Amino acid sequence: MEERIVDNNELQTDSFEKNIRPQTLEEYIGQKELTENLKIFIEAAKIRNESLDHVLLYGPPGLGKTTLSHIIANELGVNIKTASGPSIEKSGDLAAILSTLEPGDVLFIDEIHRMPKYIEEILYPAMEDFVIDLILNSDGKSRTIKIDLPPFTLIGATTRTGDISSPLRDRFGIVSKLNYYSEEELLQIVLRTSRVLDMKITEEAALLIAQRCRKTPRIANRLFKRIRDFALVRNCYEITKPLTLEALERLKVDEYGLDAIDIEYISSLITKFNGGPVGVETIATSIGEEPSTIEDVVEPFLLQEGFIKRTPRGRVATDKSYEHLKISHNKSLF
Ligand SMILES: Nc1ncnc2c1ncn2[C@@H]1O[C@H](COP(=O)(O)OP(=O)(O)O)[C@@H](O)[C@H]1O
Ligand SMILES: [Mg+2]
Repeated sequence: MEERIVDNNELQTDSFEKNIRPQTLEEYIGQKELTENLKIFIEAAKIRNESLDHVLLYGPPGLGKTTLSHIIANELGVNIKTASGPSIEKSGDLAAILSTLEPGDVLFIDEIHRMPKYIEEILYPAMEDFVIDLILNSDGKSRTIKIDLPPFTLIGATTRTGDISSPLRDRFGIVSKLNYYSEEELLQIVLRTSRVLDMKITEEAALLIAQRCRKTPRIANRLFKRIRDFALVRNCYEITKPLTLEALERLKVDEYGLDAIDIEYISSLITKFNGGPVGVETIATSIGEEPSTIEDVVEPFLLQEGFIKRTPRGRVATDKSYEHLKISHNKSLF
């Protein structure tokens, strides 16, 4: 299957992603307020020789939550164990992961909003008092055993804070939102990727990627990778602006950084549903996408950039969308 520029996959196995992932807070570009606070909390935890408070990171995909979690473990000088919310199905699954933790380690749970409710409840005493109560069933009798855990840091990542129950959220000492990146930060990220991959890029070409990547580092890096392929085939030793423009056109990434799915979304909203309001499921079905992909990946950027609005009755296209698609918006037609 063709790799999409905009999607939610992490491609952990992809050595490209591994190589370009920053390893230290120093290398992590942007999110300054968050990283400066983290630096202090990490330092303090090390001085006190205690585990860092539990951390909840939230924000749209591709903004650096997983990267930051690995950096936190690295800066603390501890191991990181990773799991994802939906993959923890049984209490035994959770106990198995928890039992591998050493004092101070980080347990990273991605998509923590998708963790089953009963697993969440086992996690509460683990987070608060570093113990778990396991219920064992044998011979028709059940008994509870308490297992002590070493102090550890839970880092949860989610694209949806709304889906996190308040008892879970309240157990995180540090709760932080990751924001979309500025053009300058993205430019630095692209230039860094160019250095790490040892592929030259002109400043104007890098700026163009920074402007067209939906303010998202993951997409900036993916675009870089695709454009690098173009350069290779063309025998260019450096990525230039004309090459980048040509590649972006082929990849159907427009001047706002919107790609084919974004355009399909807003044109469906306008042409099939008269600009809305319409429910997200209905739009998703009309363009053959999963509602969760639309909500987690496509809509956050369209909302942020003012192409659509969320209303109690559903999504509505804004004038900006009509102008962008060059469709006249004449409501007094009838
Ligand atoms: N602040 C940053 N500085 C440099 N590169 C970043 C930064 N944040 C993310 N990246 C890059 O973007 C990619 C996606 O980040 P990731 O941590 O997987 O996002 P998330 O977990 O939020 O979906 C990573 O491979 C990393 O190389
Ligand atoms: Mg992630």
